[in-house]
Amino acid sequence: MSYEEVKIFKGLKNIYVAESRICLIDHEKGKIYYYGYDLDELAVKSSFEEVLYLLLYGKLPNRNEYREFIDSIKDSMDLPLKLRSYISELPRDIEVMEAIRTVVSYLGNLRGDGLDLNRESIIDDAVDLIAKMPAIISYIYRARYGYSLLKPRDDLSLAGNLLYLITGNEYSDVDINGLDMSLILYAEHGMNASTFASIVIASTGSDYYSSIVGGIAALRGPLHGYANTAALEQFIEIGGPENVEEWFQKHIVSRRHRLMGFGHRLYRIHDPRAKHYERWLRENIDRFDEDAKRVVETAFKLYEVAMNSFLADKGIYPNCDYWSAQMYYALKLPKEVYTPIFAMSRISGWTAHIMEYIEDNVLIRPRAYYVGERDKKYISIDDRG
Ligand code: COA
Repeated sequence: MSYEEVKIFKGLKNIYVAESRICLIDHEKGKIYYYGYDLDELAVKSSFEEVLYLLLYGKLPNRNEYREFIDSIKDSMDLPLKLRSYISELPRDIEVMEAIRTVVSYLGNLRGDGLDLNRESIIDDAVDLIAKMPAIISYIYRARYGYSLLKPRDDLSLAGNLLYLITGNEYSDVDINGLDMSLILYAEHGMNASTFASIVIASTGSDYYSSIVGGIAALRGPLHGYANTAALEQFIEIGGPENVEEWFQKHIVSRRHRLMGFGHRLYRIHDPRAKHYERWLRENIDRFDEDAKRVVETAFKLYEVAMNSFLADKGIYPNCDYWSAQMYYALKLPKEVYTPIFAMSRISGWTAHIMEYIEDNVLIRPRAYYVGERDKKYISIDDRG
């Protein structure tokens, strides 16, 4: 085929690779639905555990199903001794996200059943993995600073355990519900880069853990999940609302950098998830300590300045990472765990897509159009100088 006949879709922009019943993103009206349920409603009325059930089973649980589901989560939250010792042996200078990629892979080795790509075993593995994520994130983070390791608590939800296990502090219901809402909002978002990475791996007939490790690896990049950490770093670098205008001129108007936490491949309007974070931040800002207030005020000022700039004209608005970074900072979570928390939540979406895709599996194998040289003469190494 000649170059003129070939169409190249760099970044697979606007390419559909599968049919799906999991997530509808109406990027014109600004609405998201998980299995037909309005995310705006799930965010305020549901819990992460219930949304996890929805994504794994494709329906909301009845009371009994929910009780059993919660029991199986609680039974799986603690880490086996082998995994704890493995975590304590990891190098201390690697990112938490890198360590998570390694630990999830090792957990797959310990479970040993990952090669079974049937729906039932995938759901078992997913529940076990997501239930363990608060302890995995916390142990990796705490071990590197030499803090004592805490045991997961039966009386707390996954969001509650995340907060408690990472910081060792007690949290109010408002705080736990805030993080729970964030987990719901992050759980699923269609065929994004990390989800695609997961299904590419699953489509080869590889195992569940390899597919999830692929998702984690893709999520780690700053153009994807790492954007929440990068957004926070940006707020800290700016240092206060009074510095925003100058910083924005120097870094963004000059086009030297991208504004982290802004822009999205799908939206040229506000990210529909953003308003939930913004509401939570506005309702709770008076409770934050001075340091967190300053970060949030800086972020709000930056938002205002950006909305009056060329970015708004281009349809580049804040995405949910811009807002989650502020919420996590206000919750006193260390920035190392922001992307890992996103990963914990998104494992539910990756799993839903893996199960759906392999039901009618077609190996994912696109093509690249060769534009390199041809028929070069091979010269032996002795004659190459
Ligand atoms: N800051 C400044 N300019 C941005 C921008 C940002 N955050 N996001 C996009 N743009 C600009 C690009 O420079 C480009 O301008 P041009 O047309 O003059 O060249 C235009 O908007 C389109 O950007 P492009 O990279 O082609 O769009 P995309 O759909 O591939 O990008 C992202 C989507 C997410 C990769 C991009 O918006 C980005 O890098 N955002 C920052 C990282 C981030 O927050 N990621 C989390 C996503 S949920």
